[in-house]
Amino acid sequence: MREKIEQLRKKIEEFRAETPQQLEEFRVRISGKKGELTEIFEDFKNVASEQKKEFGKLLNEIKNLMQETLKSQKELFDSLETGKSIADKTLPAFAGSLGSRHPISLAKNEILEIFTRLGFTVAEGPEIEDDWHVFSALNFPPNHPARDMQDTFFIEQNPDILLRTHTSSIQVRTMERQKPPIRVVCPGRVFRNEAISARAHCIFHQVEGLYIDKNVSFADMKQTLLYFAREMFGENTEIRLRPSFFPFTEPSAEMDVSCKICGGKGCNICKYTGWLEVLGCGIVDPNVLDACGIDSREYTGFAFGMGVERLSMLKWQVKDLRLYFENDVRFLEQFQSVI
Ligand code: PHE
Repeated sequence: MREKIEQLRKKIEEFRAETPQQLEEFRVRISGKKGELTEIFEDFKNVASEQKKEFGKLLNEIKNLMQETLKSQKELFDSLETGKSIADKTLPAFAGSLGSRHPISLAKNEILEIFTRLGFTVAEGPEIEDDWHVFSALNFPPNHPARDMQDTFFIEQNPDILLRTHTSSIQVRTMERQKPPIRVVCPGRVFRNEAISARAHCIFHQVEGLYIDKNVSFADMKQTLLYFAREMFGENTEIRLRPSFFPFTEPSAEMDVSCKICGGKGCNICKYTGWLEVLGCGIVDPNVLDACGIDSREYTGFAFGMGVERLSMLKWQVKDLRLYFENDVRFLEQFQSVI
């Protein structure tokens, strides 16, 4: 009897039904009226009473094993029918979420795309720079207070090496390498030793631009930037230029765009002025052209520079700049694009 029980246990353990019919046949064969397990239970009646306890226990185990086997294999077939199974390897793979472009990349790509339509090409350069390309060639005299406008991260062992504070350094490198006419836009990460807040970060992104040719005027700059503003913020956008100061441009200006959110009436985003500041610009100082090997008697040019975080905050009304750096998918998933 013991042997019969063990053989049956093995049979049940090894059984795998390939179809529901096979499972049903198996059930009948084992626990049906004339099934193997039913027969053993019949035999059990004749077992000597001192052995009843031992065999009773074994038989109960087999009975439970059989019930479990029927139940689990039936569940498998049921789930296949309802399409819920993960065990069916022929089902299509689970499609994970696709991810989206970071809003900073979206804004940067859009800015670059607008300027490339005007014939500008894109140039990049190193993030670790030297004093010449970030300051000296751009008409920042040594110890000039203008250097304080941009709190700089210097490499301690060598103050000539620093993290670029603006991508104007790429414009210097372009002028050193290339003869006019030059039309270039320079995207990249920049670094300033600033406290992190809702409006500022020590790492951010810029796109700067440079246009050099014969007879380039302030009016050319204004028209280019107006076109840019309308492409970026909508066709009814107006711009205004306010006098400003940069060591590398003369005259210099800050450009504001009319506030899209309140339509110029005044709201808390534009601080009730109706205008939003978006970029710095100006006519390239002749000293800069000469320092970079371009004859300032023959050529003139304009330059501009903007913060990508700031522009995308205005475009999508993001209230806190730190969101761009936290990689919270609930924020990032809201930006979808086809590019
Ligand atoms: N380099 C300036 C900045 O980082 C921006 C700028 C570029 C201003 C070109 C004028 C002309 O703030």
